[in-house]
Amino acid sequence: MSAQTTFDSIDQLALALESVGYFAERRLITAVFLSLRLERPLLLEGEPGVGKTELAKALAKVLNRPLIRLQCYDGMEQREALYEWNYTAQLLHMRAAAAHVSPEELEREVYQPRFLVKRPLLQALQTDAPGALLLIDEVDRADEPFEAFLLEYLGEYQVSIPELGTITANATPVTLLTSNRTRDLNDAVKRRCLYQWMDYPDRARELAVVRSQVPQASAHLSEQVAEFVARLRSQPFVSAFQRAPGIAESVEWAKALVALDTLTLDPEVIQDTAGILFKQREDIAAITPLLNDLLAPAAVNLASL
Ligand SMILES: Nc1ncnc2c1ncn2[C@@H]1O[C@H](COP(=O)(O)OP(=O)(O)O)[C@@H](O)[C@H]1O
Ligand SMILES: [Mg+2]
Repeated sequence: MSAQTTFDSIDQLALALESVGYFAERRLITAVFLSLRLERPLLLEGEPGVGKTELAKALAKVLNRPLIRLQCYDGMEQREALYEWNYTAQLLHMRAAAAHVSPEELEREVYQPRFLVKRPLLQALQTDAPGALLLIDEVDRADEPFEAFLLEYLGEYQVSIPELGTITANATPVTLLTSNRTRDLNDAVKRRCLYQWMDYPDRARELAVVRSQVPQASAHLSEQVAEFVARLRSQPFVSAFQRAPGIAESVEWAKALVALDTLTLDPEVIQDTAGILFKQREDIAAITPLLNDLLAPAAVNLASL
């Protein structure tokens, strides 16, 4: 079970991620690189829309590993994460076999692997080399008992199943956890992971994402989008109110502007399309009086040309 990474350097990994359309800052790539090298799970924390889930998808592609995703939610139970027994099939089997075998044999028979329904954690452990990429997404949505349950997997890449014993990894899965930080995670979970905080991208990176995902937008329009969104995020009202636009919103917005044949941003088109950037009416109302200011630097630049 040696490291399966095929990347010798951080630069190589950065290039590979860019080749599948993922643009990341150096700190993040370093964290990913170390997570691969040290075979440690990586916990990614940050606001929604900063590219946490997308990183797992991009990484699975460049590592050529199957992506196995466990989407966490409130009230999630172990059987949805690990395994459950196919009770109906067990019952049918018991009926058919009851006449021929002893009760002890019957019990052994119904707990065979073929009646086991494997959920993401178990699937990840039982994926053969080079191994899976397991994404435990939005772990902050699950509850604390679930976090406690994850410890054995995160620390040793194994799980214990009462009827079958301890199951270890066929090949160490690359493991990413994400959290939107709606609550603090358990220290024991954090101790078993490398940690990386993910911020909104800077202008240059946002521009790279928009350019790559919306190639039909002109360079000028893409620059305006990146500039405007960066300015929006630095407005105090955004944090005071609800939610700043993420990268997905910038991309969608650029697409919408192209669809409307927009050549240059102006207050009117921004107001008409504000529902793409913001999903809270308070936020939409709050940007209206700021539009001229938010657009001003671009207007000054254009005027000075
Ligand atoms: N670094 C990036 N490079 C390219 N696209 C990105 C990047 N970060 C985010 N995106 C885009 O933004 C969208 C939202 O990102 P996502 O990973 O779902 O955010 P999160 O999981 O942090 O809420 C993705 O579908 C992708 O299109
Ligand atoms: Mg996500």
